[in-house]
Amino acid sequence: MDDSSFVTAFAPASIGNLGVGFDMLGLAIAGAGDRVSARKTSKAGVSIREVRGLDGEIHPTLSSKADENTASIAAKSLWDKSGDDSGLELIVHKGVPLQSGMGSSAASAVAAAVAVNALLDEPLPREALLEHALAGEQFASGGLHADNVAPSLIGGLVLCPQVLLPKMISLPVPTGVSSVLVHPELQVNTADSRNRLAKGYSMHQWLTQQGYLAGFIAACNQNDIELLAECLRDEIIEPQRAESVPCFPAVKESAMKAGALGCSLSGSGPSIFALCLDNKAANIAVMMEQACRKMGYECQSWVSPLDAAGARVED
Ligand code: HSE
Repeated sequence: MDDSSFVTAFAPASIGNLGVGFDMLGLAIAGAGDRVSARKTSKAGVSIREVRGLDGEIHPTLSSKADENTASIAAKSLWDKSGDDSGLELIVHKGVPLQSGMGSSAASAVAAAVAVNALLDEPLPREALLEHALAGEQFASGGLHADNVAPSLIGGLVLCPQVLLPKMISLPVPTGVSSVLVHPELQVNTADSRNRLAKGYSMHQWLTQQGYLAGFIAACNQNDIELLAECLRDEIIEPQRAESVPCFPAVKESAMKAGALGCSLSGSGPSIFALCLDNKAANIAVMMEQACRKMGYECQSWVSPLDAAGARVED
């Protein structure tokens, strides 16, 4: 068999947890994502030719060993299941900063699964790629949670509790609301951050957080922005993680003062997101960035509609 040409897929970054739904609610964002190119090769096995960073250079830290990269782990999971006995070669283009709380490992895993799927004689439906992308994500984060993989795969706002997997439930997004995501130049290792979380919670905490999550989902279904603002809260996880992001309190305060509906850590941080009315988003992004820089952290921000597209094959 001749080595075939590359197929490239793009997968967007995402906001895990979305504040109110630890491990089970996630939102795709527009404007940042990873690309993975894949081709069949005559040499059996999955390999990575190279991993390149945002600057186009070979990535200084990410492994290109096939068993150490979320892209190749996801690709291998799908390829093994397909029964194709040719090999696979990947090129990974990282567009999402590492350990940023922006679903970086999920974006690589999803882009790989979508690119490899396009090489199959009979490509699988999008939903069937979840388990393969999750195989990659699980390697990176040390836990089984789909709140980054699911929105990156299918776009928009997705409810994906572990107990219901592989179900991914797309939620309607409230009209006129945007997300703002600010990434301070810090890194938080998700697996470490998860390991540090308390293992037990009180009945009061459980009831409170369940109430907010239920209210948030109802708010989305009923397009009720007031209820959404009331419920966009994390009483359990955010307080435990806030100290690993020293600029978080100031950035959150600046977002809320500027009129955000709610603000919390994106995934395990350090990125911080706010939801807000569309017409306030640009100003809230500026205020959050200013607060971040005032605390001594360089940063970057993205403003995104809540119905941002999921992964796609590119021409
Ligand atoms: N739900 C995961 C966590 C997301 O908060 O640990 C990681 O980005």
